[in-house]
Amino acid sequence: MPEHTSDVVVIGAGLIGLATAWRLAADGIQVTVCDPTPGSQTSTVAAGMLAPVTEVEYGEDDLLALNLASVAAWPTFAAELEELTGLPAGLHQTGTLSVAYDVDDAAALRRLADYQRRLGLDVEELSGRDARKREPLLATGVSGGVWVPGDHSVDNRQAVAALLRAVELSGATVIRQRVSHVITAGTTAVGVQLDDGDTVRAAHVIGATGPWSSQLEGIPDELRPPVRPVKGEVLRLRVPEAYRPALKHTVRATARGFSVYLVPRPNGELVVGATTSELGYDTRVLAGGVFTLLRDARTVLPITDELELVESIAGLRPATPDNAPILGPSGLDGLLWATGHYRNGVLLTPITAQIIAETVRTGVLPELGKPFLGSRFGQSAEHLR
Ligand code: GLY
Repeated sequence: MPEHTSDVVVIGAGLIGLATAWRLAADGIQVTVCDPTPGSQTSTVAAGMLAPVTEVEYGEDDLLALNLASVAAWPTFAAELEELTGLPAGLHQTGTLSVAYDVDDAAALRRLADYQRRLGLDVEELSGRDARKREPLLATGVSGGVWVPGDHSVDNRQAVAALLRAVELSGATVIRQRVSHVITAGTTAVGVQLDDGDTVRAAHVIGATGPWSSQLEGIPDELRPPVRPVKGEVLRLRVPEAYRPALKHTVRATARGFSVYLVPRPNGELVVGATTSELGYDTRVLAGGVFTLLRDARTVLPITDELELVESIAGLRPATPDNAPILGPSGLDGLLWATGHYRNGVLLTPITAQIIAETVRTGVLPELGKPFLGSRFGQSAEHLR
């Protein structure tokens, strides 16, 4: 069976794997990316919000710092990507409007705004009327809002296409094959074997395997990352020319206790997301998921009823026990993780690529990545040595 060699082999060609491969290849490092269907999974399904502020959760300070660093990195990342490829990277710096529907929703939004202010984040509380001044098609029942100028969005499908091109232009090799297992020699990862029997030998193996990370074969059980799939259903609607733009900014809403977000694209697409359910690797779109998304979207944006439903799709978020990614050394020499990005995969693409590329180049995980080692979940390879 043919044996390929490379400095680095990246398992998984979602946004994270592609961006990491691009950054390494751009530095003259020989990179091979393995994925049977590059860019086709979670990276394609996602709505593409860059939402470090509006999605901040109580007690996730390290994750907030990483998220803020990555939203700050997106403009340069996108500009470099566009310059190299001539393709749009999909970044839309529009700001985000969070809105509340009933009085309980408004109280919850105010509590969150207080917390965001205590963290020093840039948020501005608005009345329902002022929220509607920013987005005139919002329902008259919207009772309040918070304007967040630093949260944006990316057309993730454009970003995937541009990254695939960048990877090729930078001289990396993409092999459209599934990795059957990681090849080890003692406690060192030395490459991967593919489904067709070919092997890729490499000094560095990067697991950018998203929700499938815990399933990767060849890794000792005690070093498997605790990543589980969390399903999200997403709808894509088309706004007729006459109503464009239905929204100018990303809108996040809480409507009678339910969360929904609406992400407008310049081409008239409106992405509505997302459900959250723990059903293993099930990616069926359920009627109940479509119902709740449309119910909540039309509560805050009544014009939703007039839009064409062009797509319903489900993807799997790679979730970890603390909602933060797993980055850097795995416990197995030669294997680095770039996984577990849960709700923040699109957002964390530039900073993850930067952290992992620097770790490969220098052998040292940068300071910003240190809180995200898999060892925080008690994983250790000491007894294997
Ligand atoms: N960050 C949005 C989501 O995961 O649904």
